Amino acid sequence: MALNVNIADLLTVRTPFYYYDMDLLEKTLDTVKSLSEKYGISVHYAVKANNEKKILRKIASYGFGADCVSGNEVLLCAENGFAGNKIMFAGVGKTDKEIYDALKTGIYAFNVESVPEMKVIDRMAGHLGVKANIQFRINPNIDAHTHKYITTGLEENKFGIPHFGFADTVSALKDCRNLNFLGIQFHVGSQITDVENVYALVCRRMNEIVAEFEAMGVEVRSIDLGGGLGIDYGNPDEGEVADFATWMRVISENIRRREGQEIHVEPGRSLVAQCGSLMTKVLYVKNGEKKNFAIVDAGMNDLIRPALYQAYHRIDNLCADEEGRSAAKYDVVGPVCESSDVFGEDRELGLTGRGDLLAIRSAGAYGAVMASRYNAKEFAQAVFSDDIDSAEKEVDWFTR
Ligand SMILES: Cc1ncc(COP(=O)(O)O)c(C=O)c1O
Repeated sequence: MALNVNIADLLTVRTPFYYYDMDLLEKTLDTVKSLSEKYGISVHYAVKANNEKKILRKIASYGFGADCVSGNEVLLCAENGFAGNKIMFAGVGKTDKEIYDALKTGIYAFNVESVPEMKVIDRMAGHLGVKANIQFRINPNIDAHTHKYITTGLEENKFGIPHFGFADTVSALKDCRNLNFLGIQFHVGSQITDVENVYALVCRRMNEIVAEFEAMGVEVRSIDLGGGLGIDYGNPDEGEVADFATWMRVISENIRRREGQEIHVEPGRSLVAQCGSLMTKVLYVKNGEKKNFAIVDAGMNDLIRPALYQAYHRIDNLCADEEGRSAAKYDVVGPVCESSDVFGEDRELGLTGRGDLLAIRSAGAYGAVMASRYNAKEFAQAVFSDDIDSAEKEVDWFTR
């Protein structure tokens, strides 16, 4: 089954473009909203996944918070519907200006990743005459061998406060008069599909860490388990809404939670990936001796995930009829002068020709946000299912 769109409408739009299915985004957000209420878990959208203003406004309209990793993300969220006191600001290298902007915005909390950073926030808050809420971002050092998804929660990477630094951090906190300590945060990795096992492990580790901090005399009022819930890249139609139900149930069953203690999560990919597709037209079909190439007008500058980490994205030819689907296999390649500019190899697209519209699926997260202007290409426009008319239209060059 291919994407549910009116192809005639989309064929008039100038390619390449990111297409966002707003119905699917709403369906996803409805699911998350009801589960977050059921389990009492606060959701902060990880804005790094997609920062289109219209998407931010939609997510904010559900009352969710935001998890930001730059001062500009904080400002963008504040300007696009998120309440200042629902914005978190994380990141190992916050600049002074970013800290200043966040303090002025009155955010919910800084996720502090080191003692030197904590002292800078304290000094600036004192200068501005405000109290800054903070959470400690911890490096949980969960063994990567335990699970392949666990990549950012390891001792050897730059994120968070390491175990040996816990006591020093707590003692430094006691000298910071302008800070208000809320709790503990960590994030272990992304695209986690073994939800049951990984999050049970994450919760157990969090329980241990919270106990350690409380034994040192700090009250942990909020617990933040980060993001990471995976999506089904192989079957975006069957798996259009990620398994939030299992995620929240596992958290609720495994986290040790006192009366009044808050639980937060920071999903990015799982909220927005499936609602987005990168739409691109076939420029030329080139039949090689061993391979057929469908050369398209989108490139790695528009969607870098396949080139950067060999990510798989399903590709549908919206113009080929289903019956012809296995008629030929194509390598779908872009126009950029890099041999890694490949979206997929040996893909069954049906009989494919010049002008066909291809949908590179599950591209709503870490797609447009990671685009560049390499080769002086333009950024792909964003087109929304509820407002296709306002998209820029294709020029007819009389070449078909
Ligand atoms: C601290 C933190 N929170 C949340 C996220 C969002 O992760 P995901 O998009 O996998 O849900 C990330 C992603 O890198 C992160 O680093």
